[in-house]
This record gives sequence, C-alpha cells and structure tokens, in this order.
Amino acid sequence: MDGAKPTETVAGAKGPIGVWRKIPGIEGLHVDAPMLTKPSPDIASLIAKRRPGYTLDAPFYLSREIYDLDLEVIFGRHWIFVGVEPDVPEPGDYIALELGANSVIIIRDDDMQVRAFHNVCRHRGSRLVNDAQGSVGKLVCPYHQWTYDLDGSLLHAEHMTSGFDRKCHSLKPVHLRSLAGLLFVCFADEPPSDFDEMQRTMEPYIAPHAVRDCKVAFAADLIEEGNWKLTIENNRECYHCASNHPELTISLFEYGFGFAPEELDEDRRQALAHYENIVAGFEQTWNAEGLPWQEIDHLDGRPTGFRTQRLAIDQAGESQTMDTTVASKKLLGALKTKRLGGLSFWTQPNSWHHFMSDHVVTFAVFPLSPERTLLRTKWLVHKDAVEGIDYDLKKLTEVWQMTNEQDGTLVGYTQCGVRSRAYEPGPYSPYTEGLVDKFCNWYIKRISAHLPQPR
Ligand code: FES
Ligand SMILES: [Fe+2]
Repeated sequence: MDGAKPTETVAGAKGPIGVWRKIPGIEGLHVDAPMLTKPSPDIASLIAKRRPGYTLDAPFYLSREIYDLDLEVIFGRHWIFVGVEPDVPEPGDYIALELGANSVIIIRDDDMQVRAFHNVCRHRGSRLVNDAQGSVGKLVCPYHQWTYDLDGSLLHAEHMTSGFDRKCHSLKPVHLRSLAGLLFVCFADEPPSDFDEMQRTMEPYIAPHAVRDCKVAFAADLIEEGNWKLTIENNRECYHCASNHPELTISLFEYGFGFAPEELDEDRRQALAHYENIVAGFEQTWNAEGLPWQEIDHLDGRPTGFRTQRLAIDQAGESQTMDTTVASKKLLGALKTKRLGGLSFWTQPNSWHHFMSDHVVTFAVFPLSPERTLLRTKWLVHKDAVEGIDYDLKKLTEVWQMTNEQDGTLVGYTQCGVRSRAYEPGPYSPYTEGLVDKFCNWYIKRISAHLPQPR
C-alpha cells in the first residue's frame, strides 16, 4: 500500500510563484475540529504509564479524543510554523490556513508589516477568505461586504446605525512572529515566552541565508495517511535513511544522526573516518565564513522546543541535489561560497528546515484528522533568480519530492501497524532515535502541563 497521496498539479493558481503545484483551497483541506475540551481519566492514565525510550501507546495515534486534545493544547497553545515572509512579498498578499477550529489569515499590510488575523468576520462570523493564498486591496467579507483594511481595522459596514462604532469591530489579531523570515503563529492569549530565546539563538544561524530576500520557487502538499506525531517522529531520525532514501543519501551522511560504535566493522570504521575528516574541513570553512555551526538541542524541556545543526554534505558538498552541486546559480544573501553544507533547524511541534548556500527548503506539518496529516513543503531561491536561467525546477525539488513521498509511505505503513491489536510500544535505538524520544517526552510533558491537576 502506498501510504501517501500527493496532490495533483493544477495550473494557473494565483500568487507570486512562477510555477506552483497548487496548494488546495482551505476548504479542500478541511480540518476535523475539536469536539470536546475535557480530557478523560483514560488520557491521564495513558500519560502516566508512558515509558521513556519507547513509542507511544496506540490511542495517541488513533483516538479522536487525543487528537482533539492535540489540536487544543499542542496546536492551540504553542508556536506553530505556518509559512515564510516570501509567501506574502507585496502589500495585500495573504496566505490562509486552518488549525483545528481556528482559521488564520497572514497578510502583508501597506506598511510592509506582516500581520495575522482570525479569519472570522466581526459581523456574523463568516470566513473572510476561502483560498489558501491570494492578493487583495482590502479584506471584503463575501457575506455582507464588511470591508477591512490590511491592518485589520473595519473601514466600511453598510446599513448599521449611526451609533455603530467601527473601531470596536476590527479583525481579531493572532500572535505572529517572524524568525529571520520564518513565520510562526500562536492562538493562545499568552503565548509561550521562550520564543524570544529561540529567536535570539537562531537569528545568527539563519540570517546569512537571507530568507526575506528569497522567493518561493515551488510548493507542494503531501497528505500522509498517518497521525501527525508519526510524521514528526519519522522526521526526527535517520535510522531509516540508508534503506529508504537513495536520493537523499547521495548528499546526506547518516553518521551525522548517531550510530552504534560497537557495530562498526572495518569498512564502516573507514567510512566514519572519511565522514569525520569531511566534517573537520567544513568546520574550518564555516569558521572562515563566520557561520555559527555548533549544535544546539532544546527539543525537550521547554514549550518551544528546537534544535539546530550545520551538517556536512557529501561529494561536491554544496546542496541537497542529485549531484550535490547548487540548484541555483544566485547564492543567498551575501554568501559567496557554494560549498557550505547545510544548516538544519527543527522546531516542535511542527516544522523542520534546511538552509544551503543556494536554496532553502521548509517543511510544515498540519494535522487533518486523527489518521491524516498534511506535509507542506516550500523551496526558496534568491528572489532575483530566474527559472530556466539561474535554476532548474526539477534539480531544485527532486530530492525532497522523492524523499517526502518515501517518508509518507513509511508513515502510512506505521499507521496501519499501530491500528493492529498486536501493536505495543517498541524500543527506540539509543544511538539513532534519541531525538524521536525527545519529541515524545516533550509531547507528553506539554499535554500533561495542560491536563487538569488532581486535587
Ligand atoms: S458576516 Fe461578514 S459582512 Fe456579514
Ligand atoms: Fe525520511
């Protein structure tokens, strides 16, 4: 069974993108919304019996009740990666997406500030926009044409009384932060304050790749037939890479993600020595270029979990392409050196990113139902790069298009397995799956923190 269904290509979609594998309208990705807010005692006991170092119990991947709790607690009260500033390059450009019962519009205003609003009209609650992406002069509600400025203020509402105060009916803002051009929203009244520390830490790593001066060259949606946590778990290890990702492992060294030292035979010892030699060479380059590269890992222990690592790339060392050379001739920002390996950045709950000298790939995970998940991938190049002259779309996207589909299939296989009565939590490899365990530990702690405490 193929566990993942790529969306089909649709021509003529709106937006600033030269070639666009259409992201369906938000209606087409309707999210199953939460039905309840009170966790049952069963969830508390499942949490209490979770064994660190092991996968989660089956209900965490299957149960409607836990899915609803995930939307409310994890996606409703944490910082969620939603897109990039180049999604909305001009005033009036917007993207919209649904997370549980919430729908959010991210729009650039006339002062070039990016803002986020609830996609809910202040008259009778209609959705204001129903496309995943577009461009508007003003936000006009389709129902009775209440008209909002790009800063959310209500400009026009016909047939209201003379005492009606437009100022009291602005669009409701959603917390929005831009980390070096990566956009995060939080629906909580008081978002986790540790975003500031992540921003301070990560800006120097990401800034040289100049995300704000990029354009989105290509975007793709993949629907995986599995719970969102399986999508994240699969991303947090490379145990499966050698046997499942022939294209990705041309450029990626699996040794960078851990290994069992006692299992190394002579051939593998030599391969490891080769890898360590290459990493030492890259570290010299990164130091010479002034690029921070030290690994930082805060995936567990704080609300806004994150990790970063600058990784060596094999062979030509330039990019995650089939021949490991750059996909775009126009390097990002002020970078002059092609051979920089790749900076990786992972966030919890829902994203990961790879930054190279010539392009950036971002990945966002959005739950659709207990057993379906949307993986949204975007490829960014320098905003002045011209397709067909500076970059070739196939070369730019093929490694991650294939890798994503392979990962989607693995997630589908796992979802099928956890449905079985034979499934029970299995052990993680202490060498190669430490980050998966950290994700599950983080998840359990975050859910626990929001459960009603016993009196
Ligand atoms: S619901 Fe928006 S104008 Fe009436
Ligand atoms: Fe993978």
